[in-house]
Amino acid sequence: MKARSNESEPPGAASYPPRPANATPAQLQEYERELWNHFLTDETWRSTRFNAQPNTLLVESVRGRPPGKALDVNMGEGRNALYLAGLGWAVTGIDIADQALAFAQQRARQLGRPLTTIQHDANTYDWGCGQWDLIVLCYADESTHVPQVQAALRPGGLLVFENFHTDVNQARGNRPGQEVGFATDELRSCYAAAGFTIVRYEEPIGVADFSREAHRLVQLVAQKQ
Ligand SMILES: C[S@@+](CC[C@H](N)C(=O)[O-])C[C@H]1O[C@@H](n2cnc3c(N)ncnc32)[C@H](O)[C@@H]1O
Repeated sequence: MKARSNESEPPGAASYPPRPANATPAQLQEYERELWNHFLTDETWRSTRFNAQPNTLLVESVRGRPPGKALDVNMGEGRNALYLAGLGWAVTGIDIADQALAFAQQRARQLGRPLTTIQHDANTYDWGCGQWDLIVLCYADESTHVPQVQAALRPGGLLVFENFHTDVNQARGNRPGQEVGFATDELRSCYAAAGFTIVRYEEPIGVADFSREAHRLVQLVAQKQ
């Protein structure tokens, strides 16, 4: 079974305490909150293991599209949300990491871009019904989130999804039970089965936004009918 949160990066910083074994879901979420608060606001990590620029798939996917309402799930420190806000999108970002959200809000004020942020567990947050023109799931977690995206996008709305391919597990020596990422064709087939139009689907070897290492990635752009 895959872990529910994005365990593929970090670690990368050997000095940070490992995820606790046999933790309760609440303890694991608290660990995640502290971990991402730490790394997403740490200048050394940001400059070596993280692409602070907006995700390229997202940039390419919204080019030429009229701005609307966007939901950035597991937004992190706001690189994608702030890019969209700069294009005129009305963006809501949700994340559990309060300091990452504060970092995003500080940059939003500096840039003069409106940004709504909500500290919440994405798995219990109400994504709404038919209300978003765009949902961003960029290195968010280990779920496909098909039911939430299906319900929350308006017809014609777009999903932009990027994460690691499961090949990363072999490359990193992840043990059974610690595997992360999405298998070959997993995302395309589950979104196609849910009636989405697959606008783009690729599994390139690319430099991952989280780690800055070359890995096979999964990239999906899907449109709700
Ligand atoms: C790999 S980062 C991705 C950040 C952002 N999407 C990006 O591409 O820059 C994963 C993010 O998921 C957040 N996260 C982890 N578990 C979460 C949960 N259950 N609910 C909401 N956010 C969560 C972390 O706090 C972290 O900001």
